[in-house]
Amino acid sequence: MKKFYVTTPIYYINDIPHIGHTCTTIAADIIARLHRQNGEEVFFLTGTDEHGQKVAECAQEEGISPKEYCDKIAPRFSEAWKSLNISHDFFIRTTDPRHEKIVKKLMQKIYDRGDVYKAKYEGWYCIGCEKFLTETDLVDGHCPLHPTEKTVKKSEENWFFKLSKYIPQIINLIEDDKCNYVFPGSKKTEVLAKLKAGVNDISLSRESVSWGIPLPWDKTQTIYVWFDALINYYSATQFLENKKDFWPANLHILGKEIMWFHNVIWQAMLLSAEIEIPKKTYTHSFYMIDGQKMSKSLGNVISPGQLVDLFGVDGTRYLIARSFPSDNDSDVGIERFKEKYNADLANNLGNLVSRICKLGEGLKISNLNPSKSPFDKGDFVKLVDELRFNEAINLIFEKYIDKSNTRLNEVTPWRLETNDPTRIAVLTECAENLREAATYLEPIMPEVAKKILGQLKGEIKPMENALFPRIR
Ligand code: MSP
Repeated sequence: MKKFYVTTPIYYINDIPHIGHTCTTIAADIIARLHRQNGEEVFFLTGTDEHGQKVAECAQEEGISPKEYCDKIAPRFSEAWKSLNISHDFFIRTTDPRHEKIVKKLMQKIYDRGDVYKAKYEGWYCIGCEKFLTETDLVDGHCPLHPTEKTVKKSEENWFFKLSKYIPQIINLIEDDKCNYVFPGSKKTEVLAKLKAGVNDISLSRESVSWGIPLPWDKTQTIYVWFDALINYYSATQFLENKKDFWPANLHILGKEIMWFHNVIWQAMLLSAEIEIPKKTYTHSFYMIDGQKMSKSLGNVISPGQLVDLFGVDGTRYLIARSFPSDNDSDVGIERFKEKYNADLANNLGNLVSRICKLGEGLKISNLNPSKSPFDKGDFVKLVDELRFNEAINLIFEKYIDKSNTRLNEVTPWRLETNDPTRIAVLTECAENLREAATYLEPIMPEVAKKILGQLKGEIKPMENALFPRIR
């Protein structure tokens, strides 16, 4: 059976899940479900990033140990994903000793390869990003992604990784259209430009951060949290049973602020350790909230729970897919979500389902033709597989849902007698269209799709409740 392995970034444990994390996780879930529907054996991994200075500071503020802090917070993410019907196969935590063991092993390989050296590092460190910034990265002395947090000057003796050694090889890999692992094209151009501008080696350990995995060859230092975190994608396949064949990953999905780590540093680490590199990475853009960057201090953070309370699980999944920030940043907000929900789901899809089920109650419809699988028709699958969810949904709405609503409005079956052949024909045709649409939409709205397919199995059954109640 064909294998498919998809991942999300592992989220920092100090934050609460918000719509930014939600969009990456839902995107990965849609892809995982699509590939399962296609008969592939899927491994879908998500989890939490639990080491590093940031976590240690949060634990200290609460007066508990870092591990206690992680055990308390990690469930917030796993529960959020459960509430959104995320179908991940494993939730990895970087404090899992099985992960730690593989991290040490991989780092040792890098050391044995002769790709490390000790040197002094001095620079501006952003705790929010857990990375060093250059003078040119700073805006008014602050990290542009964390303008309210302090950027600290750090100077320490660290172990360095010979990143620069692998740059020519990585440029070749990214430029090779056959391998084509940086997706979409706009992000590939961006990474290549940065690679060609010149790349310095980076430090792989920390002297002053004790909350981390000790370096195997120098116990006075801990492994830089990003090296530890990236290895999660590989470690899960090694310590879980029967998952080794899933490596190399087919797809890492991530946001643009961590593109350098995933498209350059991770590849260099794997090349150094002589491990196969992932087949593809997809870098998406950002959600903006009503034109502003989302931040705790602005108080405009949208949580997954807020969305589920308003729009239900599948309503939320749909709205996220519809507004997914693919190539460009996407501006969203609760009011816009409400408008979209009412227009697409309550008034269009929901209304179509309720009209068909009411008018067509008891009408027999043919069995689903098994040869008519959505996967025979490449366009939708191709769009979803490229995370172009908005275009994919448009395709289904135009082809089946809008078309059926228009047909119903033209033929007005509610004005015809129950046994009028024209009425029967139009309702059957629309029911079959709806069933087709539901099969396509299943990876995006699994429960709604199941419900629609249940309503239309063998004969049209009456609906008990509106699928998508209107929201004011
Ligand atoms: N822990 C690292 C990742 C390590 S992976 C080996 C990290 N964690 S994070 O909690 O900050 O999550 C980053 C991810 O959250 C981004 O890559 C992106 O997927 C998502 N987003 C965070 N804010 C976002 C938006 N405003 N919009 C869309 N997604 C964003 O970085």
